[in-house]
Amino acid sequence: MKPLRAASMAGLGVVVMAAGRGTRMRSSRAKVLHRIAGRPMIRYALDLARRVAGHSVAVVVGHQADQVRQAVESVLSGQRDGAPVHLVEQKQQLGTGHAVLQARPVFVSGKGPQPTAYLILNGDTPLLQEATVQDLLRAHRSSGAAVTMLTALLDDPSGYGRVVRRSSSGTHDRASADVVKIVEHRDATPDERAIREINVGTYVVDGGFLFAALDKVEPHNAQGEYYLTDIVDMAVTQGYRVSAMALSNPEEGLGVNTRQQLADAEGVIRRQIRARWLEAGVTMVDPSSTWIEADVVIGQDTTLYPSVTLEGRTVIGDDTTVYSGVRISDCVVGSRVEILDHCVLRESQVDDEAHIGPFVHLRPGVLVRTKAKVGNFVEMKKTDLGEGAKANHLSYLGDATIGKGVNIGAGTITCNYDGVHKHQTVIGDHVFIGSDTQLVAPVTIGAGTVIAAGTTVTQDVPSDSLVIARVQQVNRAGWAAKRRVLLSNEGSSSSKLSKGRKVSAALSAKKKKR
Ligand code: UD1
Ligand code: MG
Repeated sequence: MKPLRAASMAGLGVVVMAAGRGTRMRSSRAKVLHRIAGRPMIRYALDLARRVAGHSVAVVVGHQADQVRQAVESVLSGQRDGAPVHLVEQKQQLGTGHAVLQARPVFVSGKGPQPTAYLILNGDTPLLQEATVQDLLRAHRSSGAAVTMLTALLDDPSGYGRVVRRSSSGTHDRASADVVKIVEHRDATPDERAIREINVGTYVVDGGFLFAALDKVEPHNAQGEYYLTDIVDMAVTQGYRVSAMALSNPEEGLGVNTRQQLADAEGVIRRQIRARWLEAGVTMVDPSSTWIEADVVIGQDTTLYPSVTLEGRTVIGDDTTVYSGVRISDCVVGSRVEILDHCVLRESQVDDEAHIGPFVHLRPGVLVRTKAKVGNFVEMKKTDLGEGAKANHLSYLGDATIGKGVNIGAGTITCNYDGVHKHQTVIGDHVFIGSDTQLVAPVTIGAGTVIAAGTTVTQDVPSDSLVIARVQQVNRAGWAAKRRVLLSNEGSSSSKLSKGRKVSAALSAKKKKR
């Protein structure tokens, strides 16, 4: 066998293949854009690539190239470290071999040193761990092989490329037989389909060998595609060594081609995320029903009750309790906060020791300050609720700035929308707002003012005032008793409606006489 120069990983170029459509997903969205634990699938391969690359990373995009490019750029914009990333377009998706060829200009530009080896990653293998890839790179360095590939032994290998081995004695025994080729499921004979060792789609390939070999790949197979996997056969034919490393945990090799595999990958990643937070000191009353996305951060001694969903860039402080059925998306929640059951919180901030819920909806742009309380069927949007303020029952608070210690009575509504524009409501510190108040914006209530229950506020109010705006109350003594008598005198013959009309007429006639 021809030995190859052991590659230094400082010169490792990485290719991530993400141009395929993902037909088996039956989706209008490119496969690598499907989300797993809140991240687009492509991010898993991309993050790994950036961590291990010594040279640059090339991401091959094609199907829905603009959307995939955007997703990649949005991941990169949130990262400071990692190898430089170049996007290359595979205009027609002619197969994985053709995809990798498109990356050649990134590495073979004539300027600067070229990679001594390439790591090639499928964009649809999100469970692959960095430690495994590092092991593969080490194996490649020490073996002097032209191709070092990752394999997995599966009980059900269907759909995957099979690893065909042969020893001089003609056996297929993994320990003693060398890899001779990879055969795709669709091209495999019944004997080859019985092979349980599959190609994971992760390869380290010698820098001098890769593109020269890819130039010679031909689309002679069931799909009429240029298969990257053909370089294995080629290396063997040219007298180079192909070495294979089997995954100790085959789960890592899961390739996501279908919705079922997407759900399987999601399940594994969610379990890993939960394990990480349990380890970090978070209590989960029922871990299996607790959904935590990959970018969420949770403080120590925080308790999550069953069926809690934490999404996006949510950050939760220490010793906070989140009860059942709560969904928190892209929020910053402080420490020692209590969030009672069935709340939805989106793009908002809740400061330390605040109380939220049950049944609260915080729409984007809410700030609930320290020790403030929001409860029982309150909806808020773009509102700053001051320190220690309370809005505990059945309110809508939108486009409002509410001062410290304010009491928002039950059923208070900020009438912020006139059908065309949104307007602001400003409420000073320590204002007391009685129940069933409407604040017709734009309106400013001075600090310390008391608003009587049932008031509709349409004008600004100075500080320390009483505001009352309701219809004058009238009490008519004995009215109801008389009505009862009249009703019983009307007898049972007339209908309820005509009886009621006659009694009302009689009562108002008496009123006029008085
Ligand atoms: C591939 C392997 C198979 C392996 C399996 C592991 C080939 C020929 N087959 O099959 O041996 O067992 O992965 O999961 O490589 N892509 C492009 N351009 C294309 C086609 C695909 O960029 O023209 C990308 C896809 O977006 C995807 C990756 O390459 O990220 C793999 O393609 P996919 O169609 O999923 O290949 P598999 O059939 O899974
Ligand atoms: Mg695949």
